[in-house]
This record gives sequence, C-alpha cells and structure tokens, in this order.
Amino acid sequence: MNNHTMEDLVSLCKRRGFIFQSNEIYGGLQGLYDYGPLGVELKNNLKQSWWKSMIYDRDDIEGIDSSILTNPLVLKYSGHEDTFSDPLLDCRNCNSRWRADHIADNKCPGCGSEDLTDPRPFNLMFKTNVGPVEDGNSFAYLRPETAQNIFTNFKNVLDSTPHPLPFGIAQMGKAFRNEITPRNFIFRVREFEQMELEFFVKPGEDEEWHKNWTDLRLDWWEDQGIARDKLELYHVPRDELAHYSKATVDIMYKYPHGLEELEGIANRTDFDLGSHTKGQKELKISAKVEENTQSNAKLAVQDLETKEWIVPYVIEPSAGVDRGFLAILNEAYRIEELEDNKNRTVLGLKPHLAPIKLAVIPLKKNDENIVKASRELKNKLQQAIAGRVLLENTGNIGKSYRKHDEIGTPACITVDFQSIEDNTFTVRDRDSMTQERVHLDEVREFLLQKYNI
Ligand code: GAP
Repeated sequence: MNNHTMEDLVSLCKRRGFIFQSNEIYGGLQGLYDYGPLGVELKNNLKQSWWKSMIYDRDDIEGIDSSILTNPLVLKYSGHEDTFSDPLLDCRNCNSRWRADHIADNKCPGCGSEDLTDPRPFNLMFKTNVGPVEDGNSFAYLRPETAQNIFTNFKNVLDSTPHPLPFGIAQMGKAFRNEITPRNFIFRVREFEQMELEFFVKPGEDEEWHKNWTDLRLDWWEDQGIARDKLELYHVPRDELAHYSKATVDIMYKYPHGLEELEGIANRTDFDLGSHTKGQKELKISAKVEENTQSNAKLAVQDLETKEWIVPYVIEPSAGVDRGFLAILNEAYRIEELEDNKNRTVLGLKPHLAPIKLAVIPLKKNDENIVKASRELKNKLQQAIAGRVLLENTGNIGKSYRKHDEIGTPACITVDFQSIEDNTFTVRDRDSMTQERVHLDEVREFLLQKYNI
C-alpha cells in the first residue's frame, strides 16, 4: 500500500524522532523545524552522499563552507536587494497576507473574499544587526542562497587550488528566506539547507554543460531512491526566470501535496562573477550587470594561449536538503499487509541513507551473557561501519523488528543462546524479513556484500 498522506509522514517524523516543530513548547514559530535523533542522521547521510558525488568522486570540484551573515554589498550587486522578492497581497476582509502567485480565482484562501489589495513586492531577505551600535547602517543579511559566497570566494579558491575551466565550487549549508506563507511541512520553510554547485565553464560551452548537469542530477536523485517516473523536468518559461538566469530547468517531484520543485539547475551566465568583479569595463561581460561594483577583485580567468581575460559562465545545480529529505521519506514509506492480517510500516531507505545502519538485539534483556556478547558485537561492528550501529535492548524482539522496519534500518542482528555457544548470529533483512545465520568471522563481509555498509 502506498497511498499515504503528508499527515502520515509528519506523524512518523514526530513519533520516531525525525523532525519536530521548532520551539514547540512555546507554541512554535511558523516555517521552522528541528531535526531529531534520527532526522539528523538521515539528513547528514543525504548531505554526505551529495558531497561525495560532487567532491570525492570527481577531481574538478572543490568544496567550501562560508559564513551565513553576508555583507549587504554582496547582495546589492548580486541583484537580491532589488529583485529577490515575492508578490504580496492582503485580504481586506480578514487581514491575512498571501503570495499573489499562490492564489486561485482572485479569492482569499482564508475567507474566500475577493476584496484583495494589488500585489506589491516583498523582499524575502532577513536582516540582522551587526555589532553593538544599532544605527541602521551596521547590518548584515542572512544569506538567501549559499551561492553568493561561492562567487565572492572565486579568486581565493582559484589562487589556492588552481583549476583550468571547467571546474566547480560546491557548498552545503543554511539559507534563510522570509517566506510569506511557509507550508507543506518542511517543503517551504524560512530556514533551510541547500546543496549548491557553481560550475564555471567557458562561454559558449554553457548550454552543453547545462544539459550534462541536468542528466547527472537526475541520476543522483535516482541513486537516493527516488523513482525516475516520480521526477519531471520543468523548463522554466522566460518570464518566470530569476534575474540572473538565462535558462533554468527544475527537477520536479510528486510530493504528497503535488508536483513541486526539488532542485533547480540554472544557467547563470557571467551575471554573478560579472556583478562582483572589479574593472568590468575592460572585460567582456554578456549579462546586464550593475556597473562600478565596489568589489576589489577581478573574478576572471586568463586564457593561457590568447592571454585574454574571460569571465566564466556558471551552471548551477541547486538542491534543497529539506525538500530532498521529504521526497526520500515519501518514496521510502510503505505499509505492507502481513499474513496474519496485521500491517507493518516500512521505510525502504537505501542503506547509505538509513539513520541506523544496523540494530544489535539481545534475545533476552536480562541475560548477562547475551547482553555482554551483544555489546561486544555492537562495538566491533561500530568500529567497522561508517554510520550508527545501535544496541537495542528492549527484550521484545518482535517490537524491535517493527521499530527498525519503520525507521528504515536495513538489518537487525539478534544475539541468542546459540550465539554464546558458536559465535553465530541471526541477521534479519528489513525488506524480505528473511533471516540468515552468520558467523562472527563472516558478519562484516556479509553486511558489506549485502548492504554496502
Ligand atoms: N542559488 C539558486 C537558488 O537558491 P532557488 O530555486 O531559489 O535557487 C534552490 O532554490 C533550491 O532550494 C530549491 O530547488 C529548493 O529545493 C530549495 N528551497 C528554496 N526555497 C526553499 C524554502 N523556502 N524551503 C525549503 N527549500 C527551499
């Protein structure tokens, strides 16, 4: 059975400790969520998988981790101060506020009134005061995308780790947007994480790289367990493009609330490097940028043959961690009917994403020998496995299996009386529920072969 709702996912997340409403004990704060003990593991595993595919599996991308507080000049010249806004309107009847492009039939979604104001732009950036003097001038923005500090570090990265074109700089981390109407659980929130790559290419090679990266990103999402037929490409129409984009392809996923953007892949041309670069007049910049930037760096590369300075074009695959988390959870969640007319909930996560890789379960909660052997096995496997191995000593095997099915643990190992005699253990598979007896000397290889953990 796979006709679950968003409420089923929200309930699982709370019950099992994946995601909680932020500041819940004070009534919460809209558009903010906290990741719990299992959520942080799954989220870290997802980010690690992205990082590996970007940085470790290739040699043409470097990673950075930059500050969240951002000098307003960066966001002035990037165009965000002027254009990073959504259309906001008010309902005169019930005083609620809405995003104009989320409204159907010109009716207030709250009360149904048609007495609405004209839309006006609402800038989504959060501002905060910096330093002890609150005079209105010493402020910073919380970054609305991780991308800008990749552009501002372009020269630092190239000077310290030189690369010829094409090459990329990747970053994962928090971004903040004062969304008018946060909604749909962690889909649209005010504080979220992005995984962004800025891939710098020669002008003229940008369209081919745009296509390459779209294909690569589709493959990667499939590797995270999202069926290809649940993903669609949306070629963003010209009049909907962000101010920096020449072309954008969105990877759309069928969330429980509808088909929505999971990742955007934009051709940002030379807009950003051009905007932040000193000496714009001497360079060929194709994008329309604000001239006379106050930046003190030339963000360009020199062609070794022609000696000409080139401002590279940028292809940007930009994925949301939280939206990825939600899509993966939605894909993995299923309810199975068992022979005895009972149901079991299973989270069929890929092992590399599972919050707990393996549960070691003593058959008897209070049997000293069994518990000792279980702890030794747990410690031994924890040394070898990247990711969490849990000693689950509840004394109820059936209940432990159900719990680990529901949180996506790929396998459970039970330690019983026979284990004490001959060092063999029962490995129970989450998906098939089959059990195999494996000797201590072979257990590591068995898990590696079967689950790649
Ligand atoms: N640097 C380009 C950029 O930020 P975007 O399409 O505005 O482009 C990229 O955002 C991704 O960030 C989206 O595809 C989405 O996955 C995620 N994202 C954007 N706004 C979000 C929000 N309010 N809540 C959760 N994720 C969000």
